[in-house]
Amino acid sequence: MTGIFISFEGIDGAGKTTHITRLHEHLLAQGRDVCLTREPGGTALGESIREWVLHRSVATATEVLLMFAARAEHLEQVIRPALAAGKVVLCDRFTDATMAYQGAGRGVDMGFLRLLAEQVEAGTRPSLTVLFDVPPAVSRERLAGLKAPDRFEREQSAFFERVRAGYLALARAEPQRFALLDASQPMEAVTAALLHVVSEHLR
Ligand code: TMP
Repeated sequence: MTGIFISFEGIDGAGKTTHITRLHEHLLAQGRDVCLTREPGGTALGESIREWVLHRSVATATEVLLMFAARAEHLEQVIRPALAAGKVVLCDRFTDATMAYQGAGRGVDMGFLRLLAEQVEAGTRPSLTVLFDVPPAVSRERLAGLKAPDRFEREQSAFFERVRAGYLALARAEPQRFALLDASQPMEAVTAALLHVVSEHLR
């Protein structure tokens, strides 16, 4: 049995997590076997790494290697077993986040990131990636309400412009895998578009 691997991406403040929660509830109500997980995170080690990279200062190379360390563990312990059990895996961020944040955002060599990705993924990649696209000006307004923004959420608009451009370039390079959603629309419209895209993929 092989399941279906779907990932979700977008800059901070795109509203991604709220929409994924709604999608998860919708799929559970349909009686589907769903595994909802996230990166960095999803395992004990991954959640510890998340704590480090989101809240403590680390060198850029460390950040890259920790993202992939968390991903290797996540693939081994959670994603591959869930797919082998025939589940629908909903993953809040995956390798595209490293390409967009560390590659486009921080300027890490894309060839280096691709090499790490190839070795760590070993062929396990999402068949659908939903990109919640929003201009940084809109996401900034949404993030302004946060009491304790993390290390990424505190970045300047120029950083998010680069990350967004990075995501859009990835989507252009693989249009068959990516579904681009305009996340600046009202919440209900974005959720409806998300449910539609995922239902079509699961048919
Ligand atoms: P989240 O806020 O969507 O849970 O994601 C956590 C943060 O980690 C987000 O600001 C993006 C960042 N991140 C990277 O920089 N590289 C990665 O590879 C991943 C998975 C997340």
